[in-house]
Amino acid sequence: MFVNLRDGSEIMLQCIFQNELSNCYDALTLHREASITVYGIIKKDDRALDGYELTVDFWELICASAGEFDSKINKDSSNVSKLMNNRHLVIRQEETTLILRMRSIITQCFRNVLFKNKYTEVTCPTLVQTQVEGGSTLFSLDYYGEPAYLTQSSQLYLETCIYSLGNVFSLMPSYRAEKSRTRRHLSEYIHLETEVAFITFDDLLNNIEDLICDVSQEVVKNSGEMLKQLNPNFKLPTKPIKRMDYSDAIKYCQENDIYKDEETKEHFVFGDDIPEGPERKMTEMIDEPILLCRFPANIKAFYMSRCPENQNLTESVDLLMPGVGEIIGGSMREWDYDRLIAGFKKHGIDPSDYYWYTDLRKFGSVPHGGYGLGIERFLCWILGQYHIRDVCLYPRYMNHCTP
Ligand code: 4AD
Repeated sequence: MFVNLRDGSEIMLQCIFQNELSNCYDALTLHREASITVYGIIKKDDRALDGYELTVDFWELICASAGEFDSKINKDSSNVSKLMNNRHLVIRQEETTLILRMRSIITQCFRNVLFKNKYTEVTCPTLVQTQVEGGSTLFSLDYYGEPAYLTQSSQLYLETCIYSLGNVFSLMPSYRAEKSRTRRHLSEYIHLETEVAFITFDDLLNNIEDLICDVSQEVVKNSGEMLKQLNPNFKLPTKPIKRMDYSDAIKYCQENDIYKDEETKEHFVFGDDIPEGPERKMTEMIDEPILLCRFPANIKAFYMSRCPENQNLTESVDLLMPGVGEIIGGSMREWDYDRLIAGFKKHGIDPSDYYWYTDLRKFGSVPHGGYGLGIERFLCWILGQYHIRDVCLYPRYMNHCTP
């Protein structure tokens, strides 16, 4: 009898049980995932799974495993919600283990690169009383009788830090009450956000380009064979990353039969938000990462600064990756008090709740900008995974909040 033994390390040890050791009651009723103690001699054997084999002299059952483990995690016979409800068992599978190990390495790589560039990490509150990215995706809650929300982004708090700490970043959960179940939307995700003072919009684009290229290299350096195992076709991104204005993306869609409405063949026009589907189609056709820049102010958030050459446009950017779509959203921030207040009013938001944010524009304001990267979307891209829920430990998405 052969048993593959795991102990939480990266090694899977093949064990051989001979004669009565495989013929006793415990051996005959042994199921996958049972925990056991084995005694024996380990030998190097190139034919074995991870190059070693253990011939068992004696073994003991620690805890038996129920027989139905396979049926609970079987992809073919299960539907998605069953697999997600059994996620606590699914995560014991080899591929999921590999993804979770890579997730740990990759978050460390982001930190390595940012620390190397002298950023300071801060942790921001996730229980808040302000919105950042529009009211429609806010989760609200009762906070000792007062209305409060789960944060959509730590950006506003990071902005408060740059005056004393310089370049800052946070790696915190963000929450979005997304009303759709797509392969790139979660209700809770890990958000890497940075904020940098005294930069121009061009510097911001260069910062994003550097982050993606440096972190990808760091991941290749730190992940050994694991990245190749999960994504054998991965190619490192190269500089310069293609830069494209929103207005050119609208033209690209018009010229390449990417429609606002597939049925009526209605074209996109300037001012339209390009939704997920068409945006991904464009990214697939161009087939390289794209820094999509300068979106119209009417489809972007209240805090974004306007382009000096055209006041209807914002100094904003999305990074689009083939296979996934948008993984980063960022912008320069409006740093002038009066223009910021005008931004709040235009979006129908009461600025008085944001006194601590508008104050920043009163006490030595500086030009600054930053971005947010969805860690799970980055993981989908670099690990070549189709669905965002497969790169999470316990994904949260519409109508799913267990285990
Ligand atoms: O583009 P977003 O909404 O930008 C912000 O939140 C800015 N305040 C960030 C900043 O400038 N500090 O979100 C940033 C990124 C997206 O590009 C995406 O990768 C991820 O967050 N994201 C999501 N990931 C998974 N599920 C969702 N529902 C997500 N919403 C945004």
